[in-house]
Amino acid sequence: MQKPPEKIRKLILVTGGAGYVGSVLVDRLLDSGHRVRVLDNLSHGDSPYPGRSLLPFTSNDNFEFIHGDIRVERDIETALDSIDAVVHLAAIVGDPVCSKHPELATEVNERGSQLLCSLAIKHGIRRFVFASTCSNYGRMVDADGYVDETSPLNPISHYARLKVGFEKYLLSLGEPAFEPVCLRFATAYGLSHRPRFDLTVNEFTRELLMNRRLDIYGEQFWRPYCHTHDLAVACMMAATAPSEQVAYVALNVGDTAENYQKKTLAELIVRQLPERATNVHFVKKDEDPRDYRVRCDKIKQAIGFEITRRVPDGIREIIDAVGSGLIDNPDDEYYVND
Ligand SMILES: NC(=O)c1ccc[n+]([C@@H]2O[C@H](COP(=O)([O-])OP(=O)(O)OC[C@H]3O[C@@H](n4cnc5c(N)ncnc54)[C@H](O)[C@@H]3O)[C@@H](O)[C@H]2O)c1
Repeated sequence: MQKPPEKIRKLILVTGGAGYVGSVLVDRLLDSGHRVRVLDNLSHGDSPYPGRSLLPFTSNDNFEFIHGDIRVERDIETALDSIDAVVHLAAIVGDPVCSKHPELATEVNERGSQLLCSLAIKHGIRRFVFASTCSNYGRMVDADGYVDETSPLNPISHYARLKVGFEKYLLSLGEPAFEPVCLRFATAYGLSHRPRFDLTVNEFTRELLMNRRLDIYGEQFWRPYCHTHDLAVACMMAATAPSEQVAYVALNVGDTAENYQKKTLAELIVRQLPERATNVHFVKKDEDPRDYRVRCDKIKQAIGFEITRRVPDGIREIIDAVGSGLIDNPDDEYYVND
């Protein structure tokens, strides 16, 4: 990939850069010639290598790491020094963990995010990319239709309510020298320096690969999916796009053709693991009421973003990494947010 000329090379702060999406973003940014500083409290890693997802970058002169917390003003002040743009990924991530630790989720996702934002404004940083979620749409009113950025938000979990709340906060700031952009990520899949096996595509693939019974609840529900690599590219493009394309805008990140029902995901996996077809069982229980099919055309028009991978590519990647033993214990708690 061609490197940006010196004058448009940026120093980008990635909060949550040790995580599933963040560690891929760090890789993409460095590979594109940018300088990267990560602020992360390494909440997913145990000793002796709590920051193992970032170890590949430590010898790169363009990489810096700050072991700190977005709830701590001093850590943020240090992290923001000389920064050109912020990509804010740090959060308590996912419905289950936010329901399990609601106070912590509010402290980090709401108060920590607001503190980071106000200090970014104080430091004169213009571009602020926020990792939001398509979960904000909740359940679609029209089961046969699609939602887009003009559709009403209908968050039905603490996690999504906090995301919607911070989106509203950001987009109503009206600060002319500030350029917030909210990226509503589709559900991620695929590999990373910190893979996650608690997300549908990766989890279903692991279960079938390990020859376990896979009970699927709400097989009829729709959800959009996007590869970690493509989510990272979208963040990088949003961090560096001209302001008139992104300032005070919310954009869905994914591809309109990459909405799937859970039963189709299972079929796609079984196509690559045909001997596991009988392991799949559909259980009638409306357990997860999120149901949304999302249009992702606006981001294409705004910044020219297009996906490069599709769900079957991610399935193949997981099968290769686990099947070959490169990931020898995909049940390890490092791979799960809880
Ligand atoms: N993965 C998805 O499918 C998905 C979908 C929609 C939106 N998102 C959003 O994208 C972002 C990244 O998600 P992910 O899947 O990479 O999650 P992740 O849990 O892998 O990464 C989050 C990172 O934030 C760090 N962190 C948590 N609390 C912190 C704090 N107080 N201070 C500093 N660092 C802290 C963690 O240590 C971790 O490295 C999140 O904001 C998430 O809500 C993710």
